[in-house]
Amino acid sequence: MHIRQATLADAEILSRIAISTFTETWERYYNPQEFQKLLVESFDLPLMQAALASPSTEVYFLLEGDEILGYALLRNSREPGIDGPDPIMELQRLYLAKSAHGGGRGQYFLTWLLETLKSRGIRTVWLGVWQGNVRAKGLYEKNGFRDTGNTHLFSNYKLGDYDDIDQLYQLVFDETTA
Ligand SMILES: CC(C)(COP(=O)(O)OP(=O)(O)OC[C@H]1O[C@@H](n2cnc3c(N)ncnc32)[C@H](O)[C@@H]1OP(=O)(O)O)[C@@H](O)C(=O)NCCC(=O)NCCS
Repeated sequence: MHIRQATLADAEILSRIAISTFTETWERYYNPQEFQKLLVESFDLPLMQAALASPSTEVYFLLEGDEILGYALLRNSREPGIDGPDPIMELQRLYLAKSAHGGGRGQYFLTWLLETLKSRGIRTVWLGVWQGNVRAKGLYEKNGFRDTGNTHLFSNYKLGDYDDIDQLYQLVFDETTA
């Protein structure tokens, strides 16, 4: 397994893997029409091009040989409910193909991402995670992220009968290494 940073030339493949992994994970929870809108609003090619061109966003691919197993999207952002010290990064997306789940690859990828950010002097990493996403929450908690008790609205669509709300988790490196 190896990791490489995506460039603007990867916009199409990023859009494709973002759509396929998001679909595998979430399609069953949403109304089909709304889900299609959410996909376009989130992962359309122009959006992926803009993300890759933005100086405040970084995308990494996890690969096995030539095959892209998943991706992570990091961006320099903060929102209410996140109070860790600057410099700060959001782990906005961490997605692996379903066929790659459960074999330690997510842990490998996250370890690499956190070590990379820490070595660059980043002090806070935060993310939003759906309360029912037991696997992701387990992974984040095992790696030192803590539930801040705050939430944000992930989308304006419904997840089943519920509003699409994420719990906000943050990891402050100084605290975990103190
Ligand atoms: C979340 C994701 C990245 C984890 O990667 P993975 O390769 O499946 O996970 P790993 O095999 O590396 O497991 C790492 C840890 O995750 C947690 N975990 C994994 N499967 C779990 C499960 N079924 N239940 C609870 N925790 C689980 C455990 O803490 C596990 O550590 P352990 O094996 O020592 O117990 C991956 O499953 C994924 O892409 N899921 C779909 C997209 C997604 O939900 N992304 C997160 C959005 S916030």
